[in-house]
Amino acid sequence: MTPTPTTAARKDFLSVLDFDPPEIERCLDLAAQMKADRSLGIHAPASQVLNGRYVAMLFEKPSLRTRTTFEIAVRELGGQPIILPSDVALGRREPVIDVARNLDRWVDFVVIRTFSQVVLTEFAAAAPRLHVINALTDEEHPCQALADFLTLRERLGPLRGRTLAFVGDGNNVVASLAHASAMLGVNLHLASPEGYQLRHAVVQQATAVARHGARLRLFTDPVDAVASADAVYTDVWTSMGQEAEAQVRRAVFMPYQVDDALMAAAKPGALFMHCLPAHRGEEVTAEVFESDASVVFDQAENRLHCQKALLSMLLTPTA
Ligand code: CP
Ligand code: NVA
Repeated sequence: MTPTPTTAARKDFLSVLDFDPPEIERCLDLAAQMKADRSLGIHAPASQVLNGRYVAMLFEKPSLRTRTTFEIAVRELGGQPIILPSDVALGRREPVIDVARNLDRWVDFVVIRTFSQVVLTEFAAAAPRLHVINALTDEEHPCQALADFLTLRERLGPLRGRTLAFVGDGNNVVASLAHASAMLGVNLHLASPEGYQLRHAVVQQATAVARHGARLRLFTDPVDAVASADAVYTDVWTSMGQEAEAQVRRAVFMPYQVDDALMAAAKPGALFMHCLPAHRGEEVTAEVFESDASVVFDQAENRLHCQKALLSMLLTPTA
């Protein structure tokens, strides 16, 4: 069944699942347009949709790409970013819903990087005016997935029927890739060690929203997962907040390192993808990271264009 296109603006983007497939596609189209304009020197779209608007940014974990690209995106759209210090201490100095209800009176958007997705949903529910954007939780990283599929579309053309392989931890990044790939008609092959696979709830969500025959397949052998893949994606073995497990994880994940041999098992010309930051010698070899197949800095650049499109769409559904 083809979903009915939404005409009302969405309040929040806590998950890729907050958008319907036409909205995801429209976000990629708008991002591509903004990228093309920016390459011509038009950094600030004439619409200036965030003119007179404030966007608070609250990061409870480190960030280079997300923080920088959101700040630039807000400024280029005519808005004012407000960088909140981490001593706001969501839920520790005062309840999460009280922080939300304060910000609801002052600003238009909050971009949050925190630990639990539940904190984010509580925050968004308590603030009826605020647009809340997920800048990464332990469970999902939806802004990353937008940039990744824009990158794939630029390199491969139409996405339907393509296959992306993800090798490594069944973490926040691959959860959002699973949601987006299913909606965009892309097959996702995931190779993870036992005990580190994608959460069953995410598999069910991705299956429920799948279109155009997109299949999500789980493997334990990375060679099986990458066979026929147009792109091979990996992420850190130890995500932020899991540092105490780093030593165990290094041993468990070593057979999942993306090296030249694994890339050779994928489709000829397959791309290498990583959300960054990357650890050479762990999840990827320096050779693969620096190879011509690597599109990691396109992914990083596209964070900016996709987030400009996302901010615009949340304010104006017809952006
Ligand atoms: N990929 C990504 O989200 O990078 P940062 O952690 O630097 O924001
Ligand atoms: N899975 C990683 C992604 C970093 C952008 C983490 O959560 O640390």
